[in-house]
Amino acid sequence: MAALDHWHPVLPARQLSTKHPVGITLANQRIALFRSNQGTIGAVNDCCVHRRASLCRGRVVDGRLQCGYHGWLFSADGEAESPGTPKMRATTTSYDTVEKYGYVWLRARGSQAKLPQFNTDGYEYVCTLDQAVDAPLELVLDNFTEVEHTPTTHANFGYELSRMSEVQTHVESTDASVRVVNVGPQKRTPWIIQALAGLRSGDRFTDDWTTYFSPVYSVYDQFWNDPKTGIERRDRWRIYVFFNPLEPGRTQLVVFAYLRATTPARAAFIRATRPLLKRIVNVEVQCDVAMLESLADKNPSIEGMKLSRFDRVLGMQRERINRIYYGKPQACSANAASMAETV
Ligand code: FES
Ligand SMILES: [Fe+2]
Repeated sequence: MAALDHWHPVLPARQLSTKHPVGITLANQRIALFRSNQGTIGAVNDCCVHRRASLCRGRVVDGRLQCGYHGWLFSADGEAESPGTPKMRATTTSYDTVEKYGYVWLRARGSQAKLPQFNTDGYEYVCTLDQAVDAPLELVLDNFTEVEHTPTTHANFGYELSRMSEVQTHVESTDASVRVVNVGPQKRTPWIIQALAGLRSGDRFTDDWTTYFSPVYSVYDQFWNDPKTGIERRDRWRIYVFFNPLEPGRTQLVVFAYLRATTPARAAFIRATRPLLKRIVNVEVQCDVAMLESLADKNPSIEGMKLSRFDRVLGMQRERINRIYYGKPQACSANAASMAETV
């Protein structure tokens, strides 16, 4: 498989009208999205096969995308028609699309990749964030799959620096996934965050995630327990983070955040405080983005890095990115896997 073969969340569905196309980039490919007839979503290469105009600068006419240069019309399946030469036949590359979880998802035609399924029963939707980061996919994923940075990089969610040595981190993996479970003392946070996020400074904080590679995404379960009684606090987050490579050295984060709601009243409260909760999530994401964009060296290779016990997954993830996501030959994978063993 190649990167474009996997389903990726590429655009909030509400941004797509029946009048104007929207251009996106994924895996270094420019693609024009538009709402076609019957409300389905068309996706074609953003380069007109006639004389290479950008199709996302055109408009949607009767469910087809019209190029702004000479008016050729493109259907959702990539069939092109020239108003001036109607007997001529032309096609362009088109993509499978689906609208789910408030997003437009896209993959290459003919791919057998499965759409990621969210398991959010008992949870209330909080927010979706979409953020481009000037850093390569591997380094962005590295940041989101270790907790050693949370005391110093993050504002509120994470572990206490002076007690970082107490944090336990457990790794388990399958051929297609890497899971990490971290447990340790929650860092000091302002009372307003504690009240809104349902935690206390010094709580036993569990950050349990699994990373998958078709496409590359991690699913986080975050919750807190009273350190004395062991009783779990009120809130439990479930967060899906997708890592879309846009172009070399640039990655799009798409974050879907949910919060457990055990009663209808709690669900209503979450809905009422969504803007605040979204801000809390966004603050943490921006902390990561600022750190990633300021890295002194953005070479994605782990060779030469002095890795700690929290970095055991870095090599495993590169092996799975190469093998599952990019579909590279096994020889590369074996090399990366052996690097993972030595971490
Ligand atoms: S370049 Fe698109 S119609 Fe001519
Ligand atoms: Fe982080």
